[in-house]
Amino acid sequence: MRKGKVVVVTRRIPEAGMEPLRAAGLELRVLVEQEDQGPARDHILAAVQDCHLLVPLLTEPVDRGILEAGTELLGVAQMAVGFDNVDVAAATELGIPVGNTPGVLTDTTADLAWALLMATARRIPEAHAYQVEGRYRLWGPNLFTGMDVSPGGSGRRKVLGIVGYGRIGQAVAQRSQGFDMDVLAYDPHNREGIDEDARVTWADLPELLERSDFVTLHTLLTRETRHLIGEAELRAMKPTAILVNTARGPVVDEEALVVALREGWIAGAGLDVYEDEPAMKPGLAELRSAVLLPHIASASRDTRDRMARMTAANGLAFLKGEPGPTTVNPQVYDSAAWRARVERILGAAPGGRP
Ligand code: GLV
Repeated sequence: MRKGKVVVVTRRIPEAGMEPLRAAGLELRVLVEQEDQGPARDHILAAVQDCHLLVPLLTEPVDRGILEAGTELLGVAQMAVGFDNVDVAAATELGIPVGNTPGVLTDTTADLAWALLMATARRIPEAHAYQVEGRYRLWGPNLFTGMDVSPGGSGRRKVLGIVGYGRIGQAVAQRSQGFDMDVLAYDPHNREGIDEDARVTWADLPELLERSDFVTLHTLLTRETRHLIGEAELRAMKPTAILVNTARGPVVDEEALVVALREGWIAGAGLDVYEDEPAMKPGLAELRSAVLLPHIASASRDTRDRMARMTAANGLAFLKGEPGPTTVNPQVYDSAAWRARVERILGAAPGGRP
């Protein structure tokens, strides 16, 4: 690694990712040290001007203007699997590879989707508050009755609808076997379908919504999936159904969801993400049928460390003019724009594909 390269880290990532960048002799500039505050767009815009690698988080905009201002940029290495905050088309056009962190957070995210599903179905946060507030006086047969996830009292196997059947959706399906569920899967970005098996059936969205007891979202946010679940879709769900969203907030029309919960079109929602994150639409926080978390799906210490290490691995490859291990726009490596950018900045031709 040639010395003197500048890395802009918008907010500090775990040391597991900072350390390899530091060890490579890079100049690390952390834009904001506070945990609860992100850099303003203008701050990123100014910082990117003489920067060779940008390391953003999913909360920071990396739009065309920022990418164009980054004339020395050899790559953007984001510490997240989702990358809807990055204008990937502009990056590709400008010859800038964009890295993400797929795979390492699959289990952790699938676990949290299940935690939300269970917490919503069995009313765990409400019951917890009741207990710690000292309101529990006497056991009663009607105390916090919820919904079975397994066949339970009715003996009926429940149907789990998975929207977005990539790595995380499949990991969620795998966990459903322990609850003896039937799975319906739909993927807006995969029209080809999947290998069905005894328990997983490919369905279109209307059928999935109509038949599922639980609907869990695991799709990327794209133009096609913005408000994929809106008023019509919520009205199509069973009044006993529960919606879980650990993907991206705008996949759900959150205003419609508030009405749906208030008026009982569906029974509950478990959310880790919001349309205007971190804000919630008016009324959502007051609904007892909503279990609400602050975007923590991949938040285990081990997983966050692995994400940070992967971010560094992508960044270090980009800085050498080499393809990163996990690039969301791999077509960039075939482009004249990338070649020209690497040659101009590093004075050498790009390295080979891994
Ligand atoms: C988290 O939301 C991620 O995309 O990694």
